[in-house]
Amino acid sequence: MGSEWLKMLSASSIAAPVGVVDLDLDLANRTVASLGLEGAVVGSSVADVARRSGARAVINVTVPQAHGVVNEEAMRAGFPVLCEKPLAPTIAEALRQVAIADLTGELLMVSQSRRYFPHLAVFREAVGRLGRLAAVSADFFHEDHEPGFRERMAHPLLVDMSVHHFDQLRYVAGDEPVSVRCTSWNPPWSWFDGDAAATADFELASGARFAYAGSRCTPGLQTSFNAEWRVYGENGAASWDGEQTVGLDADGTLPEAQDAPEGIAGSLAEFVGALRSGTTPQNEVRANVLSLAMVEGAIRSRDLGGERVVLADLIEQSLAQAIAAERSDDVGELLRSWTSAAVGITTPAWGSTHAPTASGGAR
Ligand SMILES: NC(=O)c1ccc[n+]([C@@H]2O[C@H](COP(=O)([O-])OP(=O)(O)OC[C@H]3O[C@@H](n4cnc5c(N)ncnc54)[C@H](O)[C@@H]3O)[C@@H](O)[C@H]2O)c1
Repeated sequence: MGSEWLKMLSASSIAAPVGVVDLDLDLANRTVASLGLEGAVVGSSVADVARRSGARAVINVTVPQAHGVVNEEAMRAGFPVLCEKPLAPTIAEALRQVAIADLTGELLMVSQSRRYFPHLAVFREAVGRLGRLAAVSADFFHEDHEPGFRERMAHPLLVDMSVHHFDQLRYVAGDEPVSVRCTSWNPPWSWFDGDAAATADFELASGARFAYAGSRCTPGLQTSFNAEWRVYGENGAASWDGEQTVGLDADGTLPEAQDAPEGIAGSLAEFVGALRSGTTPQNEVRANVLSLAMVEGAIRSRDLGGERVVLADLIEQSLAQAIAAERSDDVGELLRSWTSAAVGITTPAWGSTHAPTASGGAR
């Protein structure tokens, strides 16, 4: 995925890659050479490479377990960070990253790149015509062969893939999840070590339900990577095939899909726009915690045999875990100062406290 980011950045008119960091320096050097980035600084320390290359920001495309340590090093060195999903392996680690963003005053945004598709924006408009919602469903059935960390994970569907769909639900429905019941399993023919299939039923704040079903080892009838969606409301229904077909069975017509940056280019555009304007981007670290909580809540429910898990309770328990595990005085002090995790993730986000600079840049 690092190569995908580098290719996109090389062609971008709003950013350019000036350094590449990897623990595997041979891989970093080969990647730089193969992409023709001869001037790029290469190294294994993000703060060192960022300083030597004159970088203005860091894009973190490491494995999820390394997101926290790399984000912390970058933010403590004074760099804003755009971090690949999932933000962290646990909510407790995500809350720690909220604290570090608070302490350093740097922007930490999570790249939930599947929010950036022109037809998803049209689908959101369609859902907006339905009035109060009753139910949303999303089905994801794929045959994914991706040797590497995914095939060794305990929850390759929920942690690595469903986080996109859960985050898309929040974007599309404009509603927030309250609780979840989930079951997950691994079909007998699966080439994944962990559970490659799951169903989850979320209750939303409005009272509507989100029914999710997915599998990464389905050798037939593949859906889009974006899943297939249906929404039912008081004025009618809407659908999206995850690609370019949006349906609306209700009054009104739909707007044309706009020409806008897609996927990771969309994430980059929002990140750079936020740095230039001082506004708070979607999926600024605080907002992203709830998308992550949908994943962890689903796994907790599965471990409890399908019991209902209330996400707000899970987030508060995670704050207690984060405080107990903390080894840095400044982070521990800040986490303990929050009267609740809910307060911590509603503290003024980056953007509400940053004015754009005269040069149009963030720093
Ligand atoms: N948005 C998407 O559609 C999408 C698609 C694929 C992957 N991803 C995300 O991108 C990230 C990377 O996935 P991938 O498939 O490229 O993984 P990968 O294992 O192929 O590559 C990760 C790289 O990070 C390096 N690394 C690990 N720890 C490091 C550290 N502490 N410092 C520096 N480098 C370190 C590894 O050496 C490796 O080269 C994951 O978070 C994944 O979920 C997102």
